[in-house]
Amino acid sequence: MSEKEQRIIVVGGGPGGYVAAIEASHCGAKVTLIEKDALGGTCVNRGCIPTKALVQTANMLHEIGRAGEYGIVVNGYALDFIKASERKSKIVKQLRDGVAYLMKKNKITVLHGTASILDSGRVLVSGNERQEISADKIIIASGSQPGSIPVEGVEDKGVMNSDDALEMKILPKKMVVIGGGVIGLEFAQIFKRMSVDVSVIEMMPQILPTEDHDIARHLERALKKEGIDIYVNAKVACITTAPSGEKQVLFTVNGIEKALECEKALVAVGRVPYTEGLGLEQIGIALEKGRIPVNERMETTVKNVYAIGDAAGGLMLAHKAMAEGRCAAKNALGIESAMNYKAVPRCIWTSPEVAAVGLTELQAREQHDDVKVGSFPFTANGKAKIIGETQGFVKIISESRYGEILGVHILGPHATEMIAESVLGMQMEASFHCLNETIHPHPTLSEALVEAGLGLEGKSIHI
Ligand code: NAI
Repeated sequence: MSEKEQRIIVVGGGPGGYVAAIEASHCGAKVTLIEKDALGGTCVNRGCIPTKALVQTANMLHEIGRAGEYGIVVNGYALDFIKASERKSKIVKQLRDGVAYLMKKNKITVLHGTASILDSGRVLVSGNERQEISADKIIIASGSQPGSIPVEGVEDKGVMNSDDALEMKILPKKMVVIGGGVIGLEFAQIFKRMSVDVSVIEMMPQILPTEDHDIARHLERALKKEGIDIYVNAKVACITTAPSGEKQVLFTVNGIEKALECEKALVAVGRVPYTEGLGLEQIGIALEKGRIPVNERMETTVKNVYAIGDAAGGLMLAHKAMAEGRCAAKNALGIESAMNYKAVPRCIWTSPEVAAVGLTELQAREQHDDVKVGSFPFTANGKAKIIGETQGFVKIISESRYGEILGVHILGPHATEMIAESVLGMQMEASFHCLNETIHPHPTLSEALVEAGLGLEGKSIHI
């Protein structure tokens, strides 16, 4: 080891941790990553990857059901849920193995065990054997776990969290989803498209409470059109077991009592940072609302200790954790880096998909007094018609002085792919004039972005 070589310990091998480890290795550090479970964390094993694999099956099933619209006669098809689950597990394993390969390729030592931080330079790893390791810097990337609600019956058999939902071997006939957020809605549509009768109970006045109201309203309409029952302003009182053996979710909507019976209830009411057993108190880190407080350089209140990803709170998104991982690794190795939270995309794999970056219209109006809104529906976009997915629209919010784009919201086909251009724009503090002067290929869905940009001045071409 050269004299200058820095030693970095990363606690947690999810998208935040493994990316931090790779970045640190690229910057010349000797890196040890400690993981007590499987490499890849929630994203690869219990989150982004397995759910999107199921979304793919659910959507393909749905599309086959629409084959006639495209002039295709399909005689007989059915879902094989076991096979779909096996495909999901195979993809998870491939990506998990991929992370292990990346660790090896970057000469990162992976220790399987539970890390407890002794001080800002020492970590105790307990697994098959106990060992103490030292480092110059520590990056905590311990992730999150599903949150719950304090109502009677929530721990009972038949009540699941998102981890359990991914492990189901047999589909229930009826499911009640508690929480109309990202996880709740993605699962609701997956299972609905697999012929499960699904109801969603959301306590706030709109589903996706933190997203733009127009997007949430139109998505709610689209999901209801597919047959998903959605209750908003709904407060769950308790979960009981009916004489039939079915679960019964008792709740109130605007004060009126209601009950829904189901085979399975899924609780998707948010995730909470996971910091158990890390020994944070003993090194002097006090949690703030359950999260490890950090600054924009990902430094904690203790020198040489960094925290990233879900453990550090904020948006609990894999790509945000990855960006924070790179930021922390750089700062730990003396390369200045700061997070820009203005340009973090938010994506939801419902159908139509949701993707957003920046402020909602409401937030923009609270923060600026000269807000302009431009929008464009996919019904007027050629490519959307060609692929048979015309639900949704693009909505762009800008301030009028410089025309800086404050927020972009897309509800529609491939929205999650299309948002990247807007993220780059916001990262560069682009004005909508730049967008409007950028030639977009035809016929593509991305033309809807320019059209919405032109709409900011009432000059959309194709509407
Ligand atoms: P969330 O915060 O997105 O949604 C939870 C929903 O539950 C909220 O709408 C909330 O108002 C509602 N809720 C809370 N208590 C309730 C109650 N007692 N009764 C009824 N509704 C209640 O959290 P979610 O969906 O559990 O996801 C957790 C985290 O994982 C989020 O930060 C999310 O961004 C992330 N995630 C991201 C994905 C993506 O990027 N596509 C996919 C899945 C999760």
